Amino acid sequence: MSDDYRQLLDATIQHLEGLQARGVRHVAVSPESLRALALPARPVAVNAKTQMQPVMGTSVSDPARSSFFKRAGSETGAPVLTPKAAAALPAVAVVPSPAILNSRSASEKSAAFAALRERALACVKCPNLASSRKHVVFGVGNIEAQLMFVGEAPGADEDEQGEPFVGAAGQLLTKIISATGLSRADVYIANILKCRPDMPPGSSGNRKPEPAEMQTCIPYLHEQIDLIKPKVLVALGGTAMEGLLNKTGITKLRGQWHEYRGIPLMPTYHPAYLLRNQAMSEKRRVWEDMLAVMEKLGLPISEKQQNFFLKT
Ligand code: URA
Repeated sequence: MSDDYRQLLDATIQHLEGLQARGVRHVAVSPESLRALALPARPVAVNAKTQMQPVMGTSVSDPARSSFFKRAGSETGAPVLTPKAAAALPAVAVVPSPAILNSRSASEKSAAFAALRERALACVKCPNLASSRKHVVFGVGNIEAQLMFVGEAPGADEDEQGEPFVGAAGQLLTKIISATGLSRADVYIANILKCRPDMPPGSSGNRKPEPAEMQTCIPYLHEQIDLIKPKVLVALGGTAMEGLLNKTGITKLRGQWHEYRGIPLMPTYHPAYLLRNQAMSEKRRVWEDMLAVMEKLGLPISEKQQNFFLKT
């Protein structure tokens, strides 16, 4: 071991001991430092007796057991740490900084989400829906969203484009989201059913999903929610409320907080209902539900927003 390295090691040990004496048990390491530490150092002479070199990211409290140490093959040219020096290291764990932990979990999350999406896109559990659909409409938006909307099922426009809420009801939903100060890109939008409910040949319009179809498809939504972990869920309409809460009666239950697996859930009217019933009172009801959602999320609410759809 070179003198320079020995000095550096002593200084590091001293610094860590100082931290330990002050009660510090973990050291945050910046992404840059971790990257730099992961690079092989300039080759140094290997002490034949030591045969040990450090490995980042694990506790160093017990050199005998710790995976901080591994046998030095020396092919990496990494600095060599003697057992004596290792034993002198204080019991301070070297852990990646929160930035590293977050970025790792974010990439794991997006990989898990992509895998879930692949499974859903290939799903043929409902043969009638699989053969009639143009697209599986998995969901859209930000998988880090704090707010997630759940609708019923794709309609013809959504089936055509492969994205939820892009038809007339979807455009109204987009306006509602904008009125809160958020955008579609800030939230996540999905449906109970990922395929458009098939219609008898020659008939137009939409049909409500069958209970069996909902039961078959809902595990995908459960997994989406489990991965996204939104702070608040909004169930759009009776079918979404039924799928998530197993409760019926949207007129009575909307406007009150419910819980889906510990996540606050606000049921509100489906935007398609607002298109059918243009009464100001109904728009205000939905808006009051959204105000409650905004409050729950700690979003700022202006006086103007407070008064939307109030008769003057
Ligand atoms: N209605 C829904 O419930 N979901 C959609 O994606 C579109 C319309």
